[in-house]
Amino acid sequence: MIRSVVMGSGAAKPRTVVTNDDLAKKVDTSDEWIQQRTGIEQRYIAEEDETTASLGEAAARAALADANLTVDDIDMIILATSTPNNTFPATAVNIQNRLGMKHGAAFDMQAVCSGFVYAVTTADSFIKAGQAKRILVIGSETFSRILDWEDRTTCVLFGDGAGAIVLEAQEGVGMSNDRGVLTSHLRSDGSHREKLYVDGGPSTTQTVGHLRMQGREVFKHAVAMITDVIEAAFEATGLTADDIDWFIPHQANRRIIDASAKKLNIASEKVVLTVNQHGNTSAASIPLAIDAARKDGRLKEGDLVLLEAMGGGFTWGAVLVRW
Ligand code: ACO
Repeated sequence: MIRSVVMGSGAAKPRTVVTNDDLAKKVDTSDEWIQQRTGIEQRYIAEEDETTASLGEAAARAALADANLTVDDIDMIILATSTPNNTFPATAVNIQNRLGMKHGAAFDMQAVCSGFVYAVTTADSFIKAGQAKRILVIGSETFSRILDWEDRTTCVLFGDGAGAIVLEAQEGVGMSNDRGVLTSHLRSDGSHREKLYVDGGPSTTQTVGHLRMQGREVFKHAVAMITDVIEAAFEATGLTADDIDWFIPHQANRRIIDASAKKLNIASEKVVLTVNQHGNTSAASIPLAIDAARKDGRLKEGDLVLLEAMGGGFTWGAVLVRW
């Protein structure tokens, strides 16, 4: 059977680092409060000339170089983002143009913090259906542009950045020791809209709007939703938490990650944590963490990796992939 195998990864961070102490000069908060509640120590914030498209382009170029490929080898670009450069055209098409690619297709995917898991699942489906051989999957965000910097309950949590992987169609035998995406599971439930949303949009306010969140409510649902969809991934493959080499969750909050790992019996040394460095970068957080684990030598070919995310909507999902 056809498998979607990860050929390379890349990341791009804005130039400017903002520490908790830097933030505390502008916002009524403290390093101690932020670290204790979230594990975040710093985040990267995009300068005016840095956008979702420019960061996404840089991450895509890095992933292509890592995979020893060029845009000529790519059939499709899927960009997960909730902070597009424009309402339209899709920022994926902007990135396609920046990369000098005129063939194939490019489109955006909107599932907020679950965007990367949704994009990997979509790419895997195109590859399995034989409609694409190699797909660039990017997560890129500039959440700093939709934050209400007067609202300390949200603005301290998020950051900007981008990450990308290249998926390639390869023959597998259909067993769980195949390389590539082994299973993916997506969920959504729109009844939770009010808990995490942006209060603007073209069809309602004709503005971009600001992120609004009931943090406690999100927290309350997160662990149960995450662990439930991961159990579905284990059930579909016959794999268990013991088989996992690396757990690479969406990096929203260290307490959510720790509680999910504990509930699933995943040892803490298998958890890839970057939320301390990047804050919550929404759809970019998983590919940024993937790239960090690849570059520091932890993540190697053959490793079994569990990706998971939960975000606005609510949307949530899990992917099991053998590197
Ligand atoms: N600095 C200092 N004090 C603050 C700050 C701040 N930045 N923000 C809030 N406080 C104060 C509040 O005013 C409140 O004070 P009070 O007790 O005097 O009224 C106190 O801290 C506690 O506030 P809570 O909101 O109850 O704090 P909580 O312990 O719930 O932590 C947090 C808030 C960190 C947002 C937590 O609820 C959380 O992590 N939720 C999950 C949010 C999340 O991860 N969302 C993203 C997931 S989905 C996605 O990625 C898009």
